[in-house]
Amino acid sequence: MRIKWDGKLKIGNKLVDAEHKLIISLINAIFVILRHPEEREELIFTIDQLSKFSKEHFENEEKLQIQCQFPHYMENKLGHQKLLLELDNIRDSFDNLVNISDKRSEAYNDEAKRLAKLLQNWFVVHILKSDMKMKGYLPISSDQ
Ligand SMILES: [Fe+2]
Repeated sequence: MRIKWDGKLKIGNKLVDAEHKLIISLINAIFVILRHPEEREELIFTIDQLSKFSKEHFENEEKLQIQCQFPHYMENKLGHQKLLLELDNIRDSFDNLVNISDKRSEAYNDEAKRLAKLLQNWFVVHILKSDMKMKGYLPISSDQ
């Protein structure tokens, strides 16, 4: 389930790539925590961190896109809004997951697997379908 960072995921801008790496780390941390159902608070804390950081990340991307007159800015911005809504829904589902009383049950495991898959797809859609279009438009370093 773990997402592995490799060259194929690189956009070519230092800030965006570093932020994507951090998002991957948070998602991978969630996958690990899911194997320890007793870690309720840890799970919700990490999901909240992911939501918070993703919002920041999308804002940073949008700022960069304006700076370099990225032609798909509007389409990308709408995509970000949709992704944040999806992430909110996934977060609510995680909230429900931690309330399943029998953490050793099949129901818990099935739901944990379903949510892990959703989270993985969420990230893949963001980076591969939307951000890859920025490749070649953004400067290598954002502090130029
Ligand atoms: Fe991104």
